[in-house]
Amino acid sequence: MKIEKVVTIDDLREAARRRLPRLAFDFIDGGVEAELCLQRNRAAFQAYRLLPRYFTDVSKRSQSATIFGKTYDSPFGICPTGLAGLWRPGADDMLAEAAASANIPFALSCATNSPLAGLVGRAPGNIWFQLYTTHDRSYGRRLMERATEHGIDTLVLTADVPIAPKRERNIRNGFTRPLRLKLSTIIDGLSRPRWLAGYLRAGGGTPMMPNWQPFAPEGASPDDVANLFASQTPASEQTWADLEHYRKLWPGKLVVKGILHPDDALRAAALGVDGIIVSNHGGRQLDMAPSPIEMLPLIRAAVGDRVVLMLDSGVRRGSDILIALCLGAQFVFIGRSTLYGVAAFGKPGARKAIDILRNEIDLNMAQIGCPTLDGLGPHCLLQREPPFRIGCADDYAGPAPTPLRKAGHA
Ligand SMILES: Cc1cc2nc3c(=O)[nH]c(=O)nc-3n(C[C@H](O)[C@H](O)[C@H](O)COP(=O)(O)O)c2cc1C
Repeated sequence: MKIEKVVTIDDLREAARRRLPRLAFDFIDGGVEAELCLQRNRAAFQAYRLLPRYFTDVSKRSQSATIFGKTYDSPFGICPTGLAGLWRPGADDMLAEAAASANIPFALSCATNSPLAGLVGRAPGNIWFQLYTTHDRSYGRRLMERATEHGIDTLVLTADVPIAPKRERNIRNGFTRPLRLKLSTIIDGLSRPRWLAGYLRAGGGTPMMPNWQPFAPEGASPDDVANLFASQTPASEQTWADLEHYRKLWPGKLVVKGILHPDDALRAAALGVDGIIVSNHGGRQLDMAPSPIEMLPLIRAAVGDRVVLMLDSGVRRGSDILIALCLGAQFVFIGRSTLYGVAAFGKPGARKAIDILRNEIDLNMAQIGCPTLDGLGPHCLLQREPPFRIGCADDYAGPAPTPLRKAGHA
């Protein structure tokens, strides 16, 4: 498929499917267990209608959005996605350049395959940095210090990976640690010559994780560095005390990613986080988890204006972004949309994903009579489902009265 033929995010997905070996495409595209959560993320947006409104002047429209004191040209940014160098060498750099040229933020995964200095240089002012809790907290601290040294002021702590989940496509394809390449996988790889040529040109094997390289012994191979990363995370012993610890250490804006329960949102707000990304990790962690769009109104009601609320998971259309904003999100993040783009076409593909969503937002804003994002709210929506509730009783009373410090480390 040629990029000129691409009209939707689904087209980019199809182009990525054709270019990548199955093992790689499935790693990006797949979810956890039966992938019901993956489907739910799309279906949840479809439970809403945007209400058309006319006889409003919509000849001049702006979708600019301000968060944490910075104004972006669209109300969405790019999610952290690790291992992107496997889908295309230099993919992180291409995503950074696409984000900078479109003036949107890019939250770098701590598991990127490009060095931090180059990424920040490509998108100065647009880079956030994502961390997982590490068994040995000194790694987290040193990663934060490196982010600060590079002038990054927004840290994203991902909460929703306490264990390595059961991603069934990866298991079937042998994409596990250690990698077990089946004959069928190797034959499949050979049938994707353009991907294979890029992979071999970059040296083949596991791409380096430069954020972790300085912590490994001199001369450590990419596999040794990946092993070091895997020895530190997931940290299933993580508790609220870790979040408290990161809040104390990080001087800039602190965002927690992967919150779905209003009580957890309240608790994070009480610990002083600046932002929350309501997320189920794109349906990759807990198959029976609700979709973020289902939980957003409850979370907004719980935290009020105390934190900047953001959302990711399942966004494939500009209208999805508008629905999230109507339900109380101040900003939205996209994961696979730009990954499909960069895997299929490199930087132009990442930029194409951004442009598709940006254009759809623009056209939908005109149809609902909102030339700027300020006009959005629940009044713009028709909801087709009854309100969601927590638990089985009608009288969910809010958070259990647990003292904040009780669950922390001794
Ligand atoms: C291939 C891939 C790698 C990911 N790596 C990370 C990561 O390193 N850190 C993180 O916090 N989230 C990671 N995520 C989750 C995304 O940040 C995001 O929550 C999710 O992709 C959003 O859903 P969407 O892909 O449907 O837009 C990853 C997602 C994918 C698809």
